[in-house]
Amino acid sequence: MNIPTKKLLSGFEMPVYGLGTWQMGEDESQKDADVSAVKDAIELGITHIDTAEVYGDGGAEKVVGDAIKGYDRKKLFIVSKVYGNHLHYNDLLNSLNKSLDRLGTDYLDLFLLHRFNPEVELSETMRAMEDAFEQKLIKNIGISNYNVDETQSARKNCKYPVVANQLHYNLKIREAQEKGLLDYCQKEDLMLIAWRPLKHVDLDLPIVANMAKKYNKTPVQIALNWLISQKNVVTLSKTANVIHLKENLGALDFTMEQEDIKSLLNDFPDQEEVSDTVALRN
Ligand SMILES: NC(=O)c1ccc[n+]([C@@H]2O[C@H](COP(=O)([O-])OP(=O)(O)OC[C@H]3O[C@@H](n4cnc5c(N)ncnc54)[C@H](OP(=O)(O)O)[C@@H]3O)[C@@H](O)[C@H]2O)c1
Repeated sequence: MNIPTKKLLSGFEMPVYGLGTWQMGEDESQKDADVSAVKDAIELGITHIDTAEVYGDGGAEKVVGDAIKGYDRKKLFIVSKVYGNHLHYNDLLNSLNKSLDRLGTDYLDLFLLHRFNPEVELSETMRAMEDAFEQKLIKNIGISNYNVDETQSARKNCKYPVVANQLHYNLKIREAQEKGLLDYCQKEDLMLIAWRPLKHVDLDLPIVANMAKKYNKTPVQIALNWLISQKNVVTLSKTANVIHLKENLGALDFTMEQEDIKSLLNDFPDQEEVSDTVALRN
């Protein structure tokens, strides 16, 4: 399947759905299965693969590196992240080079600062990102789990566009919305990459069942489509199960009506403002 893309006014473009790799590569005995899962995903049309230096302590990047061998690199959209303890100039470039080595690639399509670190000046971090960009080691610069003020600072301190903020956003966790990040991304031409679209979201609810019936889709497909039906929002989920992945890809071939997007936005029960994983600072 050809996965649809979203394009910003700046020209930055990425697939609306990608594969996550958190918890892959943690267990050596599972490595072959993890590599097969990523390869199966590519065979089914996945091009956006999301990983990070911190996942499995580099193990997830190795899994991705093994899986993408033999595929046309230009057709893939590989994203990795540098952790918040590697944001000084030399540390960042060292981390990036190690990520590239593990992934067996010369460049990343998008490189994200995984967490804000108030102890490191953004000007120093962004100087490293700019140099990596100029050396063509990264095609695009992004951030993750940054609040609005931090996003503004990141943009102010970078001479190249900061194209994306990867955030915990799903039917239940509404921090991105409540703290103005969704609005900011939509107004300021950034992509909001919604992480963890499914995990810990109770989809066994009448409001979801009704939508699933209306669109002849499953609850999972409603949860994913609700995200990508929103302006400047794309998503990614982790799955090592081909049946699940096929179901998830079935979320990409329809458009939910505005009134249904709003109804889920307002009426989905038990919404939580704060992510259980990352509480964005005020
Ligand atoms: N920037 C950040 O700080 C940050 C933080 C967390 C995650 N992320 C990224 O976002 C990705 C996605 O988040 P996540 O992995 O935490 O959560 P998720 O994708 O919402 O959920 C993953 C779980 O859902 C299951 N699943 C997937 N599709 C399914 C389906 N159709 N039916 C039933 N179960 C299904 C998977 O199990 P199966 O394998 O059995 O399908 C897995 O247990 C991560 O892998 C990572 O790349 C980024």
